[in-house]
Amino acid sequence: MENETTKRNSFTGSIGFVLAAAGSAVGLGNIWRFPYLAARDGGGMFLVVYLVLALTFGFTLLITEVAIGRKTKQSPLTAYGELRKRWKPLGILACLVPMIIMPYYCVIGGWVVKYFLAFLTGSGAQTAEEGYFGAFISDSSSPIGMTIVFLFLSMIIVLGGVDKGIEKFSKVVMPALVILILIISIFSLTLSYTDADGVTRTGMEGLKILFVPDFTDFSLKSFAGTMMDAMGQLFYSLSVAMGIMIAYGSYMRDDTNLSKAIGQIEIFDTGIAFLAGAMIIPAVFVFMGKDGMQAGPGLMFVSLPRVFQQMGPFGGYVGCLFFAMVLFAATTSAVSILEAVVASFMDQFHVTRKTAVLSEGAIALILGIIVCMGYNKLFFNIKLPNGADAQILDIMDYVSNNLMMPVVAIGTCILIGWIIKPDVIIKEVTKNGEKFGRRGLFIVMIKFVAPVLLAVLLLKALGVI
Ligand code: PHE
Repeated sequence: MENETTKRNSFTGSIGFVLAAAGSAVGLGNIWRFPYLAARDGGGMFLVVYLVLALTFGFTLLITEVAIGRKTKQSPLTAYGELRKRWKPLGILACLVPMIIMPYYCVIGGWVVKYFLAFLTGSGAQTAEEGYFGAFISDSSSPIGMTIVFLFLSMIIVLGGVDKGIEKFSKVVMPALVILILIISIFSLTLSYTDADGVTRTGMEGLKILFVPDFTDFSLKSFAGTMMDAMGQLFYSLSVAMGIMIAYGSYMRDDTNLSKAIGQIEIFDTGIAFLAGAMIIPAVFVFMGKDGMQAGPGLMFVSLPRVFQQMGPFGGYVGCLFFAMVLFAATTSAVSILEAVVASFMDQFHVTRKTAVLSEGAIALILGIIVCMGYNKLFFNIKLPNGADAQILDIMDYVSNNLMMPVVAIGTCILIGWIIKPDVIIKEVTKNGEKFGRRGLFIVMIKFVAPVLLAVLLLKALGVI
């Protein structure tokens, strides 16, 4: 029996699915994390390692999740139990991950809204002032207000449903994002600057740092480190192991060519990451030298505003375009995180989309406020097992990304590789007579290689190795 509340939405076709899934994959990770890692880990070599892993390890995890979704037509919370009753707990874990990520992703999204508005209203120069970022995030009301704006935006899109909300939004925003990133990277390559010591640096020289392999400190140990970085980045970048791709797969039409769609998502995600590198590394290099590159919020909210300021009269406009682009990338990701939870609530509790969105919205709001307070009233600083300094936001990020996600992914590999057997996925992918290009590779990956790589990733996060 199907009525309005139980009927499952779907994407209208392959392009809608690909753009929505790419929208999830392309996010803050592509923009701030990828360029930083590439610059730190020897440029070209990191890119090669990343590409190889994307086409093997990343491909395996991505195709598995999308196929699980399409086969079961269920959300993450219920899909694992549908495949094997006893595996329901894995579904619960997979659904908890986006519930933990959503609040702090909205807080960071709120920071982006704040910077975008600053540049839009012509006061971008202020953001380059010493201490601006720290003062903003430790303010007691402004970050909460911005978090709410960002959260509401995501909720409105998800309320619109899969085809009329998520797909429609992605179809506008993703092409816009590509155009913006292309414009800014071309501009970035034409930059040149002579600093106080009379040294001139150009954008093209900066591009070399990204693409030309640097073997000066090369050793087996450094190679292993590069590989771990590339794998961690890839895992995060493809939005796997948190139910999103299962939820989106469940909305994919049965006549869509699944393996082709996966290929397109990979190209999109990797292409944007490389472009982000070509946009950020030359710009930072020209104005700040190699030392300007740093991980995380520091790059986006501290270094880049200074870079925009150095650009002179153009800087305000470039900054505005840049933060608009980041806002697009962050919103499509937040929408996918929210949808994974909303789909789970709808399937498990048989509630309407509206009830599901409002419930998860309320949870994200309360936790989001607590995350914001982590920089003022609830401030503390602890060391994580991997050695990083952490506040509430970092703890939530660590627990979800570094601990729970590898566990979900290892569980998925064991369930599919050993219990149900990879054939279920292959059958789903080829059910309309399509070809499964990397079939042999997929089987070896899901049974042996991926679980081992993931276990190493988990042990590293735990500080054991
Ligand atoms: N994949 C996104 C990125 O690369 C991040 C993301 C994380 C998206 C969690 C959704 C959920 O930035």
